[in-house]
Amino acid sequence: MVTDDTDLLRIVELGKSYRSRERNVDALAGITLSVRDGEFVAVVGPSGCGKTTLLKIVAGLLPASTGEVFLAGRPVTEPPADLGVVFQEYGRSLFAWKTVRQNVELPLRHRGLGRAQRRELVAEALDAVGLAQAAQAYPWQLSGGMQQRVAIARAIAYRPRLLLMDEPFSAVDAQTRGDLEDLLATLWRRYAMTVLFVTHDIDEAVYLGQRVVVLGAAPSGIVAQFPIDLPAVRDQIGTRSAARFGELRAQVYAQVRRTPEPTSPQPHEVTTR
Ligand SMILES: Nc1ncnc2c1ncn2[C@@H]1O[C@H](COP(=O)(O)OP(=O)(O)OP(=O)(O)O)[C@@H](O)[C@H]1O
Ligand SMILES: [Mg+2]
Repeated sequence: MVTDDTDLLRIVELGKSYRSRERNVDALAGITLSVRDGEFVAVVGPSGCGKTTLLKIVAGLLPASTGEVFLAGRPVTEPPADLGVVFQEYGRSLFAWKTVRQNVELPLRHRGLGRAQRRELVAEALDAVGLAQAAQAYPWQLSGGMQQRVAIARAIAYRPRLLLMDEPFSAVDAQTRGDLEDLLATLWRRYAMTVLFVTHDIDEAVYLGQRVVVLGAAPSGIVAQFPIDLPAVRDQIGTRSAARFGELRAQVYAQVRRTPEPTSPQPHEVTTR
């Protein structure tokens, strides 16, 4: 296969089947996808198509059945050091008995960084997400949107080269969601990260992504990809009301709708706003 030196992430012919005594589930089949260093790629697809499975394999948390994943040219066989992950269920991903500061600091401790360096990175990350004042609070004292900002701060604290996000904003209200989307876009630019962002919200994928990848129903492969030729810096009102945004949204939507329904339909899953 031809490789491009500017690719940070390469997913090659990736397949995943879950096998147990009760049932076998073929989740992914032949996913091949490269992500350039610094690129923001949004992945959309119907419920159960394997989006979370894909992210878990890329994160080194789950073994592939077939194919391979390379990060900066090295095969991913365990969670790589320069990776940040934000999952959907932020409530469960934060430790209730630890303060905001301690939650953000935890992965840095595991990396063996010294105290002074940890403090500096935590302070900068909390400042970047606008939570410097809440460092001593506990997660349960914060709103849902603030908790999600803590999860983002934790992921960016050690400056990951690759940030994986699995429907990170689906549990917050529309206004907060817009704010978090814009915060993420700002951080992506500031830290020159590469982002692989999974969502079932087509508008969100088009709003954030430089490229949108559409997965088909399981066992899924990539059914379409769209370069998003909107202006680099976007804003909630101007971008979303632009004619080009509407065209792109319609093109992506048509591809998502073309995919057959999953075997156990969850009709709320593919949404547009
Ligand atoms: N640990 C597991 N064991 C067995 N099957 C699994 C496991 N995890 C996921 N699956 C199955 O693999 C398929 C893909 O699941 P996955 O969670 O990756 O989908 P998804 O696209 O993230 O869905 P959603 O949009 O609902 O989050 C589903 O059929 C699911 O039931
Ligand atoms: Mg999922």
